[in-house]
Amino acid sequence: MTRPILFAANWKMHLHPGEARTYLDRFLEVDQPRAGRTVAFFPPAVSIDVVARMLKGREHYLTGAQDVDTEPKGAFTGATSVQLARGAGAAAALIGHSERRHVYGETDEQTHLKLRAVLDGGLLAILCVGEKLAEREAGNTMAVIERQLSAALRGVEAHADLAVAYEPVWAIGTGRNATPADASEVHGGIRSILGRLGIPVETRVLYGGSVKPDNVAGLLAAPGIDGVLVGGASLDPDQWADICAAG
Ligand code: PGA
Repeated sequence: MTRPILFAANWKMHLHPGEARTYLDRFLEVDQPRAGRTVAFFPPAVSIDVVARMLKGREHYLTGAQDVDTEPKGAFTGATSVQLARGAGAAAALIGHSERRHVYGETDEQTHLKLRAVLDGGLLAILCVGEKLAEREAGNTMAVIERQLSAALRGVEAHADLAVAYEPVWAIGTGRNATPADASEVHGGIRSILGRLGIPVETRVLYGGSVKPDNVAGLLAAPGIDGVLVGGASLDPDQWADICAAG
């Protein structure tokens, strides 16, 4: 059985509402939606509303938040709760992205609380995991990922609204992607860990880290890779449409 494929664009700190509108005007002109494929956009919080409005009623597309707070509301200056993101039109959220973990110092416990908030709020959670270069070189890739998955998914019931993104930290924004074979091997390991944690086998596992138009087809052809999470190469609408047409 083939799994549905998810193409997720992580715009990071780029594209304000006006730029997002111009981007989507172009993207929707060139993209050719295909059955079994969903294209998700993760704009900065200020642009969620405009992206969600432009994608409303188009079944192949989804809007999400790049990060959410653990709390539902309150005096938390600068933060975006699940409720706020959902009110702006988000149907999904990235959780535990490497920049949240390693630039902002988020712990496994915070990632867990955020994941719970997203699932309790009825959004699709894309849980990001991945090892740093030194951890890979020390042979600790799967140990790190097992720790990240077990901590984040502690007590989480088998949940349909979950996807995992394997994003080796050394591949993000570096132009150095994992080979399809390397990614596929880790994806197999992730699937076994998910199985042990009682997470359904149909949970999608995406690859992220320097995905480009010229390497995406090879990655999607590798066993166990159910989609991609893309930063830099998703910022140009034509390039992103090329990626979403691959494979
Ligand atoms: P990149 O980022 O495609 O620019 O490497 C991927 C990500 O951070 O999700």
